[in-house]
This record gives sequence, structure tokens and C-alpha cells, in this order.
Amino acid sequence: MKEYFSNKMSLRRLILITIVVFITSETVSAVDVKKAVGDQVSFRPDNSLPLSVTSIIWKHINTAGITVKAIEWDEGETLIPNQRFQGITTVDNMTGQITITNLKVEHSGVYTIDINSKEQKQRFTLTVMERVPKPVIEPEKIKDNPNVVNLTCKYSETIIWKNSSGQILPGLALHPKGEFITAEKTRNPVNFYTCTLKNAVSEETSAPVYERDLFKESNRGCAVAAVIPSIIMVIIIHLL
Ligand SMILES: *[C@@H]1O[C@H](CO)[C@@H](O)[C@H](O)[C@H]1NC(C)=O
Ligand SMILES: *[C@@H]1O[C@H](CO)[C@@H](O)[C@H](O)[C@H]1NC(C)=O
Ligand SMILES: *[C@@H]1O[C@H](CO)[C@@H](O)[C@H](O)[C@H]1NC(C)=O
Repeated sequence: MKEYFSNKMSLRRLILITIVVFITSETVSAVDVKKAVGDQVSFRPDNSLPLSVTSIIWKHINTAGITVKAIEWDEGETLIPNQRFQGITTVDNMTGQITITNLKVEHSGVYTIDINSKEQKQRFTLTVMERVPKPVIEPEKIKDNPNVVNLTCKYSETIIWKNSSGQILPGLALHPKGEFITAEKTRNPVNFYTCTLKNAVSEETSAPVYERDLFKESNRGCAVAAVIPSIIMVIIIHLL
């Protein structure tokens, strides 16, 4: 019984601590956002604005550490002194929220806000990245072994290889960049392989490379043998 109560107490304490930790981590949360080129982003201060807001200044500290004013709102007038933010940046005078559309890599960095000339504690970190390209698998024949082909994906992003059953296949590093896998001839014409590129903001998968297209040589004879009779048939039908 005693144990039950002490357990109940410690549970209650745990819940309390959890709530306190949750609330404090909420108020000091540093915002860290990753976006793709062309996306838009909005940052809004956590704390509510003072009753009478006379000025809002959003500053941008770029990755080289240089600070510029991104947008300034001063008693009804909005200024965008830096060309990097012109035509794509707005600020909401009620919430303090900044919105930047059509992002470029150069918009990466840290954003801070001054309200009524007082810098707020909160920091907003933005990383703008290019989307990964759609990868193309390049098959590379191996001289002495007609039954295997190396498939290469020569990109620097994270690479995920899969086969037609959706199984992830371990790739080996290629120099200077990328990975390869070795595809073996299994005589199953529906087998295929794909290569997926991934980064923090995007993912693209290659067109599938079918095993039947990798090991064509030995089948060419059969294919020709199948095509010729049908051509002859067409000619015969036309003659009739
Ligand atoms: C604040 O913004 C709203 C529109 O978002 C505008 O109508 C209003 O005039 C602005 N207030 C001032 C003081 O500029
Ligand atoms: C191709 O695959 C073979 C067999 O796995 C491997 O030994 C070789 O290094 C690969 N070659 C290239 C150029 O990736
Ligand atoms: C896909 O790869 C897994 C693991 O290597 C293998 O067991 C499975 O048979 C493969 N499937 C095809 C269709 O190649």
C-alpha cells in the first residue's frame, strides 16, 4: 500500500516535471527550418507582441556572418533595404511574422527580430538547399563476366538502391563520388533496379533499369528470329 502511494506520488511528480520541461522547452525553442530552393518560409516570434508596436525589424545574418536588414516596418511604412529580399518579403504588423517566398540558397542563415528597437531572444535558422536531381543509372559492363553488370549512380547525395521486390540493396562506394551495385543475370525479365537520391528537403528515384535490358546480347538472336516471321506474315497478308 505504502509503495503504491509513493509510486503514485513519484508519477505525479514526473508528470509535473514533464509539463514544466515541455513548457520551458517550448518558450526557448530555437527554430531550425530546412527548405528547398523556390519554397517559402514564415517565421513568427513565440511571445506575443507589446500592445503598441511602433517598429519591427527583421535582420538576416548570412552564412558568412554578415548582417543586413531583411525588412523594416516603421509606423505604417515598410522598407526593404536589401535587394536580396525585394519583391519576395512581407511582414505582418500584428503578429510580427515575416514571410519570404521564392527562396534561394543565399537566404540561408539566422534571422532575428527587433520589436520597438529591442532585439528579441529568439533565433530562427534557415537552410535553403537545392532539390536533388532525378538520378540516372549508368550500367557498366564487366569485361570477363557477361553474366554481371555494375550499375552506377554517380551523385554525392545519399543513395538508396532497391530491386523490384522493394528490398534495399547495399551499394559500394565509387570514386570520386556515388555508389555501385552488381546486378547478376537471373533470367527473370521482370527484375529491375532503381537508385534514389535523398537530401533533407527532397527525394528522387531513377527510372527502373530492367535486367532484360542489361543482358540483351544473348537474347538478340531470339528477338530477330521472332521479328522476321511477323514481317514476312505482314508482307504475305498485303500480297493477298
Ligand atoms: C497593418 O497591416 C494591415 C494589413 O495587414 C493594414 O491594413 C494596416 O494599415 C497596418 N497598420 C499600420 C499601422 O500600418
Ligand atoms: C564491378 O563489379 C565487380 C564485381 O563486384 C567489382 O569487383 C568491380 O570493382 C566493379 N567495377 C567498377 C568499375 O565498379
Ligand atoms: C531483391 O533483393 C533481395 C535481397 O538481396 C533478394 O532476396 C530478392 O530475391 C531480390 N528480388 C529480386 C526480384 O531481385
